[in-house]
Amino acid sequence: MSTMIHSASPPRLEPWSAIPALPGGAPWIGHSVAFGKDPVAFLSEGRRHAGDLFRFRMMGQQVVFACGPRAHESVFKAEDSVLNAGDAYPFMKPIFGPGIGFDAEPEEMDRQMSLLARHLTSTHLQRYPTIMEAEIETCVQAWGDEGEIDLVPAMAELVAAVSSRCLLGPEMRRNMGSDTVGLYRDMAKGLRLAGLLNPGLPLPAFRRRDRARRRIAQELQHVIDTRRNGPNVAHQDMLQALLESRTTLGQPVSDETVIGMTIATTFAGVHNSTGLASWAGVVLLEQADMLPQLLDEQHRIVPAGSPLTAERLHGMELMGRCIREAERLYPPTMVLMRKARKPFVLEGHHVPVGTLVMISPTVAHRMVSAFADPERCDPARYADGRQEHLRPYNLIGFGGGKHRCIGRAFADQEIKAIWSVLLRRFDLRLLGAPHRPSYSTALISEPSAPCVLRYRTRQRG
Ligand code: HEM
Repeated sequence: MSTMIHSASPPRLEPWSAIPALPGGAPWIGHSVAFGKDPVAFLSEGRRHAGDLFRFRMMGQQVVFACGPRAHESVFKAEDSVLNAGDAYPFMKPIFGPGIGFDAEPEEMDRQMSLLARHLTSTHLQRYPTIMEAEIETCVQAWGDEGEIDLVPAMAELVAAVSSRCLLGPEMRRNMGSDTVGLYRDMAKGLRLAGLLNPGLPLPAFRRRDRARRRIAQELQHVIDTRRNGPNVAHQDMLQALLESRTTLGQPVSDETVIGMTIATTFAGVHNSTGLASWAGVVLLEQADMLPQLLDEQHRIVPAGSPLTAERLHGMELMGRCIREAERLYPPTMVLMRKARKPFVLEGHHVPVGTLVMISPTVAHRMVSAFADPERCDPARYADGRQEHLRPYNLIGFGGGKHRCIGRAFADQEIKAIWSVLLRRFDLRLLGAPHRPSYSTALISEPSAPCVLRYRTRQRG
């Protein structure tokens, strides 16, 4: 009897032209106006019209959008030499500076990221919670016993205080007033679609972005000069680690590079964390039936007079699930992009060199195939037995693969610490529901105004 061997023929690749193209769009600018107005509505509508893979044009560029875990995996796993993040985010270059982050060659970027990542992982995470708690307490003492405060600016102030103190050290924290928070916002408002074309165009938003960056760089330079020339103090922050680091040739890293890496990290962290801390507040406070359990968890894990520690923050499971649900429903970064440097295959289709490849956590997290009843706010979906977040490439609010967020654990501690202090100290209510996303701070989603937090100090006992 002869044995027949069937060799599986490779799946047939479809040409680029087989990817459905969205109708409409103006000459050259394509669909830029609709995308710029509301990227999530535009992409969701595109998906309803054309399915999980479609193409359109924006600012003279071809864009392909793909949705679903398999597409996410192939984008996240692609080599930088094939799909490049830096080429897709040219508008970051004026903020980070030349040769920093995405603007560096892939090997140099890897070196920079591993230097930064060291300060965002376990040893340092053990130290941060007590520092975070002290900073948050100092900020909220200024709120008084009761009142109302706009949620997003309040979160921006707390996040900036915590990040600057933990990562940049006491001097930057002392210098950081609402003015500095405004400077970071001015930089964020420079993230515009026009920057895809040329981030150096003479637009008012780009001028404000550059002015803000110069001011922050000056503040940092002042701190660096004092540290380099002043008395030897054993600083333990990320800024100091960067100052003491060496290039691959063993040379000290230039001040310009230290400043660029510092701005890149705090910028990446502050805006995303402000967005997620605000949305976490919406999820925590709008689940009225869950509030008593959340308070129980707080009082059980942090008995009166006990400090916040890494273990205690880690143990706040219910709060963790609420934050994860905020990440799913309202991921701060709503689109992630790469540019094809070499021909690429996406969902069985050829993608030509020069194409912008786009995925969207916001759109993907609402796929019925990805999450049960996806429109429903349901933190229990992450509890034992369900754990919907563990399906590979399903929950992608912090990215995935090689370029996944290195600040995730830090952001998790920061957001838990903020809401742990606020919940234990105040009776809280959020006014202005329902809260819808606003994309006015460039590419980051935040609850739109008015979103007011009413607080009143809890009675003892
Ligand atoms: C809630 C807070 C945060 C969210 C939602 C978030 C989200 C993300 C996402 C989606 C990416 C992937 C970008 C891409 O693939 O194109 C990313 C990368 C990154 N994040 Fe975060 N992030 C947060 C907080 C932070 C913090 C606190 C830091 C630092 C202190 C940070 C530093 C970075 C860096 C340096 C990268 C680039 C990594 C690489 O390309 O290799 N992030 N983040």
